[in-house]
Amino acid sequence: MRFENKVVYQIYPKSFQDSNGDGWGDINGIRSRIDYLAGLGVDYLWLTPFFPSPQRDNGYDVADYRAVDPRFGTMADLEALIAEAEARGIGLMFDMVFNHTSTAHEWFQKALQGDAKYMDYYIFRDGTPDAPPTNWQSKFGGPAWEYVPALGKWYLHLFDVTQADLNWENPAVREELKDILRFWKAKGVKGFRFDVVNLISKGEFVDDKEGDGRRFYTDGPHVHEYLKELVHDSGIEGMVTVGEMSSTTIANCIRYTNPHEHELSMTFSFHHLKVDYKDGDKWSLMAPDIHALKEIFASWQEGMARGGGWNAVFWCNHDQPRAVSRFGSDTTYWKESAEMLAVAIHFMRGTPYIYQGEELGMTNPHFTKIEQYRDVESLNYYKILREQDKTEAETLDIIAQRSRDDSRTPMQWDASENAGFTTGTPWIGIADNYKAINAAAQMDAPDSIRSFYKTLVALRKKMPVISAGKIEFLYPDNADLLAYRRYDGETELLVLCNLREREIAKPLPVGWTDAEKLLGNYPDTADTLRPYECVVLKK
Ligand code: GLC
Repeated sequence: MRFENKVVYQIYPKSFQDSNGDGWGDINGIRSRIDYLAGLGVDYLWLTPFFPSPQRDNGYDVADYRAVDPRFGTMADLEALIAEAEARGIGLMFDMVFNHTSTAHEWFQKALQGDAKYMDYYIFRDGTPDAPPTNWQSKFGGPAWEYVPALGKWYLHLFDVTQADLNWENPAVREELKDILRFWKAKGVKGFRFDVVNLISKGEFVDDKEGDGRRFYTDGPHVHEYLKELVHDSGIEGMVTVGEMSSTTIANCIRYTNPHEHELSMTFSFHHLKVDYKDGDKWSLMAPDIHALKEIFASWQEGMARGGGWNAVFWCNHDQPRAVSRFGSDTTYWKESAEMLAVAIHFMRGTPYIYQGEELGMTNPHFTKIEQYRDVESLNYYKILREQDKTEAETLDIIAQRSRDDSRTPMQWDASENAGFTTGTPWIGIADNYKAINAAAQMDAPDSIRSFYKTLVALRKKMPVISAGKIEFLYPDNADLLAYRRYDGETELLVLCNLREREIAKPLPVGWTDAEKLLGNYPDTADTLRPYECVVLKK
């Protein structure tokens, strides 16, 4: 078992714990909470980028891959964190943003000065200021090309204008990236997350008549070859790796993760987190399509299993609104829905990820003013939506439900001022509910959401069927209930999750009537499934 029975906890350092009162979370803040994390039983900590960065995209615009941004601490702090985590059996996973660099990176700065070697590190195309090379759109809104008058050329940026895409066709770029991996491996890092790594191999540079251009660079022509080379040559094979895959397919994710391919341990895919996008548009609101959600889970889980691939399973990260606000209830059935959502994925086939605060049932902050937002994507789309004639109120409602800042508000540690996150002014506001929803209130409560998560993590270690068993989805036509079976010849589990805020029928397959209840989010048992009820039965 390398990573199948492990659990990863994601830390967004900027919002986790501030140790010096500057309003930013930092490495020493994480160190001060290491026993909180060890207490949860997690195996790995994935840290989102803490590297020197202009912070246009909160650190995903990296200016130096081998250093710590002073606002987060020092290299010595980081080395201490690695050692202190290791002493508790916890490995660190760092976030490698290799599709693009910040335009503040010295490579790009040299390119801007016309240095041919470094121009070839990026994707520059000749052109006139009025005609971008293609009509592709940036994922953060607006065109994906920026003109540099001094060079008479455009450069590609699939994300922000300050995030220039690297040219992976250039072997020198690939060597640089391998070297960065070797550097962190030597520091004792145990794994890596690769940011939007299925976008690294660009195909043809032609206009997209149907979409925003993504079909020309998603899972592109050389992506598998480049990944194999990166992992093999850098010597990181055997370490835990997860690739973030944008708009990908099951077939590609099997190739990325089947051990015979020697690429990655697992992949993040996002189709299940688009079931509330009307017509596929993130900025167009719709209630979650539960039937579609079930279909996506079933096809990915069963498809990846058939092809020998491996999933990362998750609801939350720093780019997604809080799951409890989105798929559950952050009021009446707050606790029930938070626990049901946890069960829904922690018993699936894959490695579960817990995003900071998810284990406390942290909610969206429900901001009401544009001044409360910090995220570049939210600020861009605020303008775009207002230009599309949406009213201020409609726009703010959309942003409040969809903003990446929903998950980036500070960790709620206790009921004291600023939720115990900082003694200064936090860089982004804290959710108003921190006096009720916080770690201190849940630590020693056997019935808390955190204790429930702790049980889930412990069960994965204890029961091999959870990490290694087969999976079969049940009742595909039932639009309210997520149901699946895990089995390994010895143990059999039946997982039932009511995805609705109302009572529904509780169907049981033949032979399950007298099965033992392993876990549930209601203290007693009923003949129906109550709002957001989940039950796990065992034979
Ligand atoms: C990934 C990151 C996101 C970032 C983007 C560009 O999707 O998770 O936060 O903005 O890549 O690096």
